[in-house]
Amino acid sequence: MTIRPIVELQDITFRFSNRTEPILDGFSLSFKDHQRLGLIGPNGCGKTTLFHIIMGLHTPESGSLLFRGVPVDSKEQFRLLRREVGLLFQDADDQLFSPTVLEDVAFGPLNLGLSPAEARKKALETLESLGLADFSERITHQLSGGEKKLVSLATILAMDPRALLLDEPTNNLDPNTRHQLIHILRDLDLAYMIISHDWDFLSDTCNDVYAMSHGKVKQCGKAHLHNHSHAHPHGEQPHQHGHG
Ligand SMILES: Nc1ncnc2c1ncn2[C@@H]1O[C@H](COP(=O)(O)OP(=O)(O)OP(=O)(O)O)[C@@H](O)[C@H]1O
Ligand SMILES: [Mg+2]
Repeated sequence: MTIRPIVELQDITFRFSNRTEPILDGFSLSFKDHQRLGLIGPNGCGKTTLFHIIMGLHTPESGSLLFRGVPVDSKEQFRLLRREVGLLFQDADDQLFSPTVLEDVAFGPLNLGLSPAEARKKALETLESLGLADFSERITHQLSGGEKKLVSLATILAMDPRALLLDEPTNNLDPNTRHQLIHILRDLDLAYMIISHDWDFLSDTCNDVYAMSHGKVKQCGKAHLHNHSHAHPHGEQPHQHGHG
């Protein structure tokens, strides 16, 4: 049996109603199981808009969005898509809304029909798997920017997605936490697509990188590992050099 791509965008055109120029202009991309795609492109080129179209938050004026080979054109189809695909918002404040971290992470599993006790267990397990066990009783809106990013990831992973759309996941992360995120992503048995301006991060986490410009996307090939020089206080910032 052929497993269809998770998501396929075919010749999508999208423009915001207050703008004449399209943001996406004949945009096509296929995202398959086990793929790890990086997506780069200048500020404002439409990367976040693309993820929002995939999740059904914006509706294209033409073209097709397919989920597992089926056109996504109804609420029910988007429900099925969202069951498999989790979006990490660029701004964590768009993701988190419950008073405590535990409630936020348990919200998704509860929504999927788990009992309160099962949802709590799932939330605690997920937080623990991300090294966030101590965060469960923290007040969500008091978390730092980087902490909010990681807790946001936990809210998505607690729902056992098959694929992730990660919109600038390294924003606000310090070098250690960024490094921790690289390991978390590498260990996940999931397909993901990452929007980032951080080439090194993409080369550490993705197999293919696509560049977006003028409403379209083209493959740049494999993320290229390279040695480079950069500055940091000697001996004070634990991090890795030289990718082999
Ligand atoms: N709701 C909206 N109404 C009108 N224009 C919008 C809306 N949302 C975004 N835009 C504009 O659409 C363009 C694409 O925005 P988008 O957020 O997709 O960019 P991006 O590639 O994610 O940029 P960044 O790298 O800064 O996150 C931008 O020029 C933005 O100002
Ligand atoms: Mg964006």
